[in-house]
Amino acid sequence: MLASSIRIQRVSLGRYTTTGSCGLLNVCKKTWYSTKPAFEIKENETVINGKSFDKDEWTNVTPAILAKVNRQLHLQPKNPISIIRQLIESNFTDFKTFNEFSPVVTTKQNFDDLYIPKDHPSRTKSDNYYFNKDTVLRAHTSAHQLQGLASGENKFLISGDVYRRDEIDSSHYPVFHQIEGFFYLDNDLTKLQNELNRVQATETPNIELVDDTVIKPENPVQACHSSEASDLIAAHLKHNINTMIRNLFADEKDLKVRWIDAYFPFTSPSWEVEILYKGEWLEVLGCGVVNQKIMNGAGLDNKIGWAFGMGLERLAMVLFGIPDIRLFWSEDSRFIDQFTPGKINKFVPFSKFPPCIKDISFWLPEGEWHENDFCELIRGEAGDIVENVQLIDDFRHPKNNKRSLCYRINYRSMDRNVTNDEINEIQEKVRRVVQEQFKVELR
Ligand code: DAH
Repeated sequence: MLASSIRIQRVSLGRYTTTGSCGLLNVCKKTWYSTKPAFEIKENETVINGKSFDKDEWTNVTPAILAKVNRQLHLQPKNPISIIRQLIESNFTDFKTFNEFSPVVTTKQNFDDLYIPKDHPSRTKSDNYYFNKDTVLRAHTSAHQLQGLASGENKFLISGDVYRRDEIDSSHYPVFHQIEGFFYLDNDLTKLQNELNRVQATETPNIELVDDTVIKPENPVQACHSSEASDLIAAHLKHNINTMIRNLFADEKDLKVRWIDAYFPFTSPSWEVEILYKGEWLEVLGCGVVNQKIMNGAGLDNKIGWAFGMGLERLAMVLFGIPDIRLFWSEDSRFIDQFTPGKINKFVPFSKFPPCIKDISFWLPEGEWHENDFCELIRGEAGDIVENVQLIDDFRHPKNNKRSLCYRINYRSMDRNVTNDEINEIQEKVRRVVQEQFKVELR
């Protein structure tokens, strides 16, 4: 089923899903923004920002997604994503910032360098946008940890746009933004303790914090670390994260924050942080003590470090009161002119245009069904006018055992009225491509 809760910080790099396949090999010649021709999808190659990648059986990048690559919302001063990024950076004053790494990365950077196993489901085509088997749009800012380490800095932040194929609703979009934090120092108990004392001197508690996590076999201290050193670096991590959250939510009343155990191949122990907002626990970040193999690989054998990765959309939606994730992409002045760099203010909705609702039902052929691929196809055909796709009926015929699905597609524009005729035309196209791509029998 499609989740309705906010789930921007999708920790798909720890989660488990099944493999899927999707071949949206659209041949399309498209340039955009007269000053920056960003991409061209040719028959045998994809060109993006002047670099060319041969296509193969992994290729599944779409024109709709490539058109987002140069938008860089995290660098547009008045965009709430950029405002949040800067507020987070202001909590880490002596950290070096990297905000312009290219989102086009190798699978080595996105997965192998972080010890994500070869058969891990977060590598599948149905979760990612591949140029080819070796090149992908980054699925997380962790893909740049080694670049950060190679810079020689021992404290740094990396922000950027990240890409994951997903469902469609008001809080899911295939492009979102993350900020990664990384800190390390000498693996020496006195130095670690001194550093912890130094940062803890600035404690300003104003939120309810729940942390009853304990070290256990499922979420262990790494064998190469002493528990004293691991505990000290973890306390330093937790202090930094808690302080940042307190500062970001300084004006929000009744904020609750909790730490829970997690799993990532690139940290141990690992945690996630959730905040209670309007009665719902929202996951905002993943973090942990850096896998020592990453440190050693960078020639930093005698150092110990922590890292975190945080989704920016979810935080911005909560803090600015933004109800729909598509709004961040709006170039409508009624949206963007509401915001000022350095300031959090509540978004004032500017008229909501009526939706146009269409259903599509079909019999499935034999084999697996991947909702992400279906949503991706709809997004490719209809674009941002799709607000939401919801499974409303799923049944199996008692006699022939065939499975039938019915999805409700909610079309709505952010900035104008849509006509029924125009949506009928889009819906017809959607029906056609769904039939062609998935070999379903339309009803
Ligand atoms: N990259 C993870 C994700 O997107 C989040 C994360 C978890 C980043 C732990 C980290 C970390 O740096 O240490 O799901």
